Amino acid sequence: MTKKKRKLRYGMVGGGAPTSVGVIHRNALCLNGDAELVCGAFSHSFATSQKEGAEFGVAADRIYHSHEDMAEQEAKRADGIDFAVICTPNAYHYPAAKAFMEKGINVACDKPLCLTPQEAEDLKKTAQENNVLFCLTHTFTGHLVSREARALYRKGVIGELRTVVVEYPQDWLVDALEKETEETKTWRSVPALSGRGAAIGDIGSHMENWVHFVTGLRVKKVLANLEAVGKGTMLDNNFQVIVKYDNGASGFFWGSQVAIGYDNAFKVMLLGEKGSIEFWQENNNYLILRLRNQPMQVISRGSSYCQPESLKYVRTPKGHPEGLTEAFANIYKSFTDAVYDKLDGKTIDEDSYGYPTIDMGADGVRFFNACVDSQENGNIWITTGK
Ligand SMILES: NC(=O)c1ccc[n+]([C@@H]2O[C@H](COP(=O)([O-])OP(=O)(O)OC[C@H]3O[C@@H](n4cnc5c(N)ncnc54)[C@H](O)[C@@H]3O)[C@@H](O)[C@H]2O)c1
Repeated sequence: MTKKKRKLRYGMVGGGAPTSVGVIHRNALCLNGDAELVCGAFSHSFATSQKEGAEFGVAADRIYHSHEDMAEQEAKRADGIDFAVICTPNAYHYPAAKAFMEKGINVACDKPLCLTPQEAEDLKKTAQENNVLFCLTHTFTGHLVSREARALYRKGVIGELRTVVVEYPQDWLVDALEKETEETKTWRSVPALSGRGAAIGDIGSHMENWVHFVTGLRVKKVLANLEAVGKGTMLDNNFQVIVKYDNGASGFFWGSQVAIGYDNAFKVMLLGEKGSIEFWQENNNYLILRLRNQPMQVISRGSSYCQPESLKYVRTPKGHPEGLTEAFANIYKSFTDAVYDKLDGKTIDEDSYGYPTIDMGADGVRFFNACVDSQENGNIWITTGK
């Protein structure tokens, strides 16, 4: 089954609303041009789903009432989907992913993987038992310079990690929270839909994941302070976490969704024994490399001196900025390469394709649950229990 023979077929659960992240998933898959949207349960309301599906050009008989219905019906079709894309509120990731995997359908799911470590272990088991591929769309891993950082780190350019500082300030929740009432609050303020942590699960999971994706290091224990700042919130919107990695390195993560004046300022400083790497998502066409006793280097995405692992994903010449949609598209390109290879009967080592895996997702879920445990037990060290 080569790419030239046919496009892959995918369906979406959630992601219909014009403001949802589903738009970016669809645009990214369009950019790659190797997969077409053929079905979906785009909303919890069937009427809304029908309206949205029709706008996306999906046939009426492939717009479903629920993810269960979609998994059931698509598995029976000769032209059923090759993968399902899940971009619902967090609480539905687990049941939807499980339903598709049990029918042998590959899954691309937005983050965080699910709500609890128990759900995460069950999803890992289900993926193995049903031999399905699982891609977790942690956006920032898709930027070319994230892939450049991964290649540089893994080739030993900055040596073993000693410490890492990650900050992620945003202010998009300030106004929303102040206006929020019991009736108008969004799923992000409802623990049953969001999970035990809000900001720590939402943006903390990106922080843990980026460092894991680039270095391969896993968080062993955490000491967290989670707080709800300002009016109208029931869950955390500002946090500080000290982390210890399995190689002995330490780290400090600060995240906030009420940091006035900050848009989406995810920044990582990886400090190794020979040098350091700095990634700033708001300036994501450039990566800063500092080596001992050398002037600072600014690596420009797509330059001839870049690593093949990042050059592989160049879409536009350097100096013409790429962004969030391209980052999603790069993750999907890694994933659809694996889906095609699986269709060709090849044995797949998911980590080698360069997309965040279910194992990374499970680590993320353990990470943010350990942070909530730390907070609830008086800000003490908690092992992540991997
Ligand atoms: N990777 C990223 O950078 C990124 C960015 C934003 C959001 N996200 C993640 O994407 C997910 C969705 O977030 P969002 O901001 O798009 O939320 P949203 O509230 O804007 O959209 C959620 C969508 O899911 C639909 N939906 C709700 N319940 C459903 C159900 N049971 N079945 C089918 N559809 C259902 C809604 O109708 C809506 O279309 C979350 O898990 C979030 O963490 C990831």
